[in-house]
Amino acid sequence: MSGTDRAAVVAGLGGWVPRTVVTNDELAALLGTDDEWIRTRTGIRQRHVIAPGEATGDLAVEAGRRALESAGLVGVGALVLATSTPDRLSPATAPEVASRLGLGTVPAFDVAAVCAGFVYALAAGAGLIATGVAESVLVIGADTFSTILDPADRTTRAVFGDGAGAVVLRAGSLDQPGALLGLSLGSDGSRSDLVEIPAGGSRQRSTGLPVKPEDTFLTMRGRAVFAEAVHRMSASARETAARAGWPLEEIDRFVLHQANARIVTATAHRLALPAERFLSNIDRVGNTVAASIPLALSDGVLSGELRPGHRVVLAGFGGGLAWGSVALVWPHIVHPGIRILPAPSADQSGARK
Ligand code: UT7
Repeated sequence: MSGTDRAAVVAGLGGWVPRTVVTNDELAALLGTDDEWIRTRTGIRQRHVIAPGEATGDLAVEAGRRALESAGLVGVGALVLATSTPDRLSPATAPEVASRLGLGTVPAFDVAAVCAGFVYALAAGAGLIATGVAESVLVIGADTFSTILDPADRTTRAVFGDGAGAVVLRAGSLDQPGALLGLSLGSDGSRSDLVEIPAGGSRQRSTGLPVKPEDTFLTMRGRAVFAEAVHRMSASARETAARAGWPLEEIDRFVLHQANARIVTATAHRLALPAERFLSNIDRVGNTVAASIPLALSDGVLSGELRPGHRVVLAGFGGGLAWGSVALVWPHIVHPGIRILPAPSADQSGARK
């Protein structure tokens, strides 16, 4: 392989969701909402949430372990963890996850790009490989937004769920299936207030003023975020496809950040492509933030909707604002097992991860 052919190649995949399931009906019993509103506005039927005492790092370890097993590896040269809900404010969660996975003293760091986090972390992992820092990288997306939601906010509680997903990247060549192609990333900090937690950072702490409880929770201006998500993910997917040299209509599968089923269909419409090419598992897991793309990949492999040889574009978008896309030909991947998800209602049996 010549230096210019060197690429980061996807070689393993794993996912994990916590055991506790919250159905729409359970939320309806607590808040002023109902199953029909949530299903028709978001496509979500249930979400998984961590138990008391569990944390993002626990989910990351489970997903990471499965991705390593899938790649047939016991070690990697580096770990990148995309998360906006780290186990604590400092230090980063990644070194502890690496340690718990038995990865020794490898470089390990967090990437905070919210729902675009997984694509940003893939880019960071690809950079570590391109620069020769590592020959293999474990890239994990994990979040536990259930810990930062206002318990009384029916909208965000309906949307977000907890989970983790991971891939292993290995050094390879551009012509190999699984090679990351056409990466494109972007951000718009002038709109950082669309999705935010105002308190907890240095800006609030330096005031010395008492913290308003509502400022410690996630706030989201849903409509504006919706419009931005469709605009940015469609433009980003177009850019990545062009960089990869693929006509849009020759792309077999799109795996978008699973924020809302209507965002996915609106993006398909914007790209003038059939919605069937866009994978979706949001009905079973909700919006799992940095975990959503690898969990959707995992589900696509298990359901057979995502197959070796498919041309795939992944696209993420979220708070920041931040967005990004990457293209790859789906490789042969050994998937480490099937996780059965309890069905939320009699008409939806057999859901699994
Ligand atoms: O992950 C990346 C960042 N996040 C996103 O990409 C999320 C993007 N946004 C969305 O997915 C949607 O905007 C939401 C699902 C968050 C909200 O759906 P919407 O269709 O945009 O609803 P809305 O916020 O405009 O609210 C419409 C109505 C309001 O009532 P009024 O004012 O019309 O009487 C809300 O109070 O729906 C009401 N509402 C609810 N009703 C029942 C909001 N949440 C609920 C609920 N149950 N859970």
